[in-house]
Amino acid sequence: MKKARKLTVLAAALSLTLLTACGDSSGNENVKTVPIKKSVAVYFSRVGNTDFPSDADALSSASINRSGDTIKGNAELIAEYAAAEAGCETAEIVADKSYPVDYDETVSLAKDEQKAKERPAVTCSVGSFDDYDTIWLSFPNWWADLPMPVYSFFDKYDFSGKNIYVFVTHEGSGFSSTVKTIRELEPDANVVEAISVRGGSVTEKEQAVRDYVKKQLG
Ligand SMILES: Cc1cc2nc3c(=O)[nH]c(=O)nc-3n(C[C@H](O)[C@H](O)[C@H](O)COP(=O)(O)O)c2cc1C
Repeated sequence: MKKARKLTVLAAALSLTLLTACGDSSGNENVKTVPIKKSVAVYFSRVGNTDFPSDADALSSASINRSGDTIKGNAELIAEYAAAEAGCETAEIVADKSYPVDYDETVSLAKDEQKAKERPAVTCSVGSFDDYDTIWLSFPNWWADLPMPVYSFFDKYDFSGKNIYVFVTHEGSGFSSTVKTIRELEPDANVVEAISVRGGSVTEKEQAVRDYVKKQLG
């Protein structure tokens, strides 16, 4: 190959590599969503799945948001922001087991659950999703994966033909492979990678979450 041609081929290959590297890795471009008519903001949080003492001041965890006597999880707040913008209800995923109050014990227990592929039974106040076309789903990244109760949630309900907008809270890992996993668990749903938010920045991201939801509502 002549030197000039070699350089052209090399430049083309390099720009293709750069395009791929800079491109959107969400997989959202292959997702076709349906118009949003009725939605619900579903969340799983450590708060709500842990028997915390009623005295919120006694707690010392970064992932707990206090407002007076009320404590809320990060993913719970994201669901509230989405619901406020969409004008819809929130619904919590609650496992039939309670996680330890101690943070490190929860981290360790969640690892064991993950290794054992445990599926704790869950309830959700939305008994049936038949009337809904869209779920704004938020949950924390647990060990670079979905918390196991969120797997149970997907075992329990079928979201075929529905939109699932995924919001993940985390402490550095972002989405990890959670969106890919949900696409595998719900192959006929329209699973969209929405926003990942660092737990400590959740309250600062209210507007970003609301703007995102507003844009999807059209
Ligand atoms: C069991 C457990 C495992 C976690 N694993 C990760 C992780 O792998 N990567 C990460 O960035 N954050 C991890 N975190 C941090 C949480 O994702 C983060 O604090 C999140 O905002 C908590 O949301 P919540 O208040 O709704 O439960 C973990 C937290 C717990 C309790």
